[in-house]
Amino acid sequence: MHHFHYRGEDLYCEEVPISALAEEVGTPFYLYSHATLTRHFRVFNEAFQEIPHLICFAAKANANLAILNLFSTMGGGADVVSGGELFRALRAGIAPDRIVFAGVGKSREEMVEALKADILMFNVESSQELRLLNQVAGEMGMVARVALRVNPDVDPKTHPYISTGLKQSKFGIDISLALEEYQLAQSLPHIAIVGIHEHIGSQITDVTPFVDSLSRIAELIGELRTLGIEIRYLDMGGGLGIPYDDETPPHPTEMAKAINPILKPLGCTIIFEPGRVIVGNAGILVTKVLYTKRTPEKDFVIVDAGMNDLVRPSLYESYHAIQPVRRLDGRGRLTVDVVGPICESGDFLAKNREITMVEPGELLAVMSAGAYGFTMASNYNARPKAAEVLVKEDRHFIIRARESYEDLIRGEDIPDNL
Ligand code: LLP
Repeated sequence: MHHFHYRGEDLYCEEVPISALAEEVGTPFYLYSHATLTRHFRVFNEAFQEIPHLICFAAKANANLAILNLFSTMGGGADVVSGGELFRALRAGIAPDRIVFAGVGKSREEMVEALKADILMFNVESSQELRLLNQVAGEMGMVARVALRVNPDVDPKTHPYISTGLKQSKFGIDISLALEEYQLAQSLPHIAIVGIHEHIGSQITDVTPFVDSLSRIAELIGELRTLGIEIRYLDMGGGLGIPYDDETPPHPTEMAKAINPILKPLGCTIIFEPGRVIVGNAGILVTKVLYTKRTPEKDFVIVDAGMNDLVRPSLYESYHAIQPVRRLDGRGRLTVDVVGPICESGDFLAKNREITMVEPGELLAVMSAGAYGFTMASNYNARPKAAEVLVKEDRHFIIRARESYEDLIRGEDIPDNL
């Protein structure tokens, strides 16, 4: 459910016509609906009301300060994977005791920053990392709270690039080695074990992989407890999918129904790290048609947003619906590639897509772009990053200004005596 809808011919975000926003901020721009963001957060939160839990929104999906702040006001925290994301989360006003820090490659400096901030816990992914964290915490006269990220070896049946819980994956500690690693953690003086973490993949459209992996984790928690290792937090990561096209992922309440029976008896506080399911369908990318081009082979619609703005189609061949911002009657349909201005053949937003014919100057909405859209944007081809706009009812806020050319060269220097 989202709040992008047609009124007559015009596509609106809540009460605001999108064409008016394009007029004001120019194109391309990301557009988020406040009502959709809050609804998705609330629905997820309420789905798990029966069990003690904390939602640590995965900042990698969308790290805009206004959006992180919004979730924080709703009682959420953040799952961060870098010093930069930690900085953003803190700047957005997220309480440190609602921040968890994951990632296979945390640097010493990042550990120091997170210890200083006194975050809830580190999700540790290897024994070397555990030892370094122990050392860094020791140097600071502190004790680091940790969960070990366990790789449960479950196939989430999603795109291979976003599967993370398989044996051959770089993530986490193999479940067969977990007891040993926990014992190591227990022996380290500046480490306090508080939890266990898993994250098996993203855009998961079936509850089975969650059920399977959590069953394995529950068993492991039992074994840890017999060794006297108490697990207070079970962080089950994110991964719940959304409908981009014709997928039918489980609703959060369905997921809750399937996993609550495993979670409840554990008596842990459950941490969720949803990203996509909260923001994915709450955002779109608005772009303008620059040209239409017919070659002997193909028809192209060339737009002013490219793979630097939204890389998902190029990187994962992922599907994003494309809708006209003004839906005019009597237009024909045409199968086209919707492509950007970047000098790469892989620069496309849609391939062989049947769309309603469009003219230069008209606007298109690339749907379901709220997750891993702006956060994966780059400056390739020296393209300033797009603006981000948030609509709440009939008001709109520019939550990130479009980058300028000056922004592009910030920090660069031409040495005098080269
Ligand atoms: N927690 C951890 C430790 C993660 O690695 C991720 C995502 C999440 C939570 C959030 O997962 P979500 O609920 O959004 O599925 N760029 C890719 C997705 C990469 C996901 C990486 N990890 C894409 O555009 O599809």
